[in-house]
Amino acid sequence: MTPKPKQILVIAHRGAKGEAPENTLGAFRLGLAQGCDAIELDVHLSKDGEVVVCHDFTLDRTTDKTGFIHDMTVAELKRADAGRWFHESYEGERIPLMEEVFDFVPPGIMINIEMKHSYGRKLEQALVELIRRKDRLRDVVVSSFDHKSLLYLKLLEPEIRIGLLYDANVVSHSGLAALTGLPVYSLHPSYRRIDKEDVRDCVRQGLQVYPYTINDEGQMRQAIDAGVSGIITDFPGRLRQLLSGAGG
Ligand code: G3P
Ligand code: MG
Repeated sequence: MTPKPKQILVIAHRGAKGEAPENTLGAFRLGLAQGCDAIELDVHLSKDGEVVVCHDFTLDRTTDKTGFIHDMTVAELKRADAGRWFHESYEGERIPLMEEVFDFVPPGIMINIEMKHSYGRKLEQALVELIRRKDRLRDVVVSSFDHKSLLYLKLLEPEIRIGLLYDANVVSHSGLAALTGLPVYSLHPSYRRIDKEDVRDCVRQGLQVYPYTINDEGQMRQAIDAGVSGIITDFPGRLRQLLSGAGG
């Protein structure tokens, strides 16, 4: 019997960021329509303690308003238009709360939540409380460049899956995971930092490898050939099509 080919996850970066306004429900809707298996998004904390989905610390680049997210309440943040800057057809998109994303994304789709800042550990606390309340522990993988923040998260909720984000030439990728002393679920390296041998070693150790951010078809093929577990891409439709062609 031919062994079933390993599934490579199509992970929509900030939603289908290449074709929709990043980190909006519109971008997540498009990613899902294009057949993604997972959504990557970024979170911050509002002034009134809500987990807010946005990449930057401020509203300046991706909305028609300005200012720091952490200086604003949800009511204030919701006044910003987060779609018009991308295209007029997206006018009216709002910055989503993490809670709204949980209500929108069906169970079974992995949600990779990237914590951009700890906010004095308040973000980790709010996130764990929310994930428990919405009963989405099984769908979530939380990643961060701040590995200390992941440690704190794991102390709050030992069952939560965590992923190390990094952009560095490390001696051993699996060794990096071991060095943290944490039961790491996944590695999220910049795609430039890994080769076939690194990936093979990680997979042998039971680690998922999800490089970011690959949009070029040739580079997607290289990553697939290297044996990655998933690819974080702005163009989930492109990757899905490529994988369908490859029978993946
Ligand atoms: O999670 C992968 C990737 O999103 C990390 O970088 O800046 O796009 O959030 P950034
Ligand atoms: Mg991110």
